[in-house]
Amino acid sequence: MRWVVGNWKMHTTPSEAKQLARQLWRLLKSACIGPEVGLRVVVCPPFTSLEAVRRVLARTRLEWGAQTCHEEVQGAYTGEISARMLSELGCTLVLVGHSERRRYAAETDERIAQKLFRVVEFGMHAVLCVGETWHERERGQTVTVLEQQLERGLAAVTQALWPQVLIAYEPVWAIGTGVTALPEQIAEAHTQIRQILHRLGAPESVPILYGGSVSAAAVSNIITQPEVHGVLVGGASLRSGEFNAIVRTVAAHRCS
Ligand code: 13P
Repeated sequence: MRWVVGNWKMHTTPSEAKQLARQLWRLLKSACIGPEVGLRVVVCPPFTSLEAVRRVLARTRLEWGAQTCHEEVQGAYTGEISARMLSELGCTLVLVGHSERRRYAAETDERIAQKLFRVVEFGMHAVLCVGETWHERERGQTVTVLEQQLERGLAAVTQALWPQVLIAYEPVWAIGTGVTALPEQIAEAHTQIRQILHRLGAPESVPILYGGSVSAAAVSNIITQPEVHGVLVGGASLRSGEFNAIVRTVAAHRCS
């Protein structure tokens, strides 16, 4: 299975999201996508736009998901959203541990592990985001960082839950910078992640996505690297034409 996931971050009001979802489906209707052809395409709007996107994308081959969730099922957590709520909105996937959440919401690996568990407990796919900063890469700490984030973030995953887990390698220095990691850097990191996953008892089938300045121009060189099973797209997922081009490139590698 290959995956293209769009992370809309804090963009789109409900009416803008509705319009973007409509444009996307108009462009992607004719594309070779869907679980039965081995390519799942998921957009992750802000919480407030989920219902609008759900209405547009229900009964299409596009899926929707969320950018984070709280680790508890319900309770006195003002302002938070739980996995249980997201599952009732038809989300098929939730991102956990995005570097922007780690940085701005001070999410720790331990809380991320709990969030991931909740997501899969409620029947959705969890995408665990991992990746090093430029400073860590320069100091030769990339593997150590990946090891720590994966070991801790996946601590609650039992054998039966692996089919609902995805990993996204998102080097922090490549996010929102326009600087995509080089194909060889991606190949190296994904191979290292696969080795770590092996050690953690994960099956070979756990997909590893790449994220960080993915564009229509760069995607072909990314998707052809070893151990790359899809992409997590930020900025370019807000431009329907470019997201369409990205999906079609991945589909061509999958379906031709
Ligand atoms: P950009 O594609 O805008 O670099 O964002 C990547 C990202 O953070 C996806 O989760």
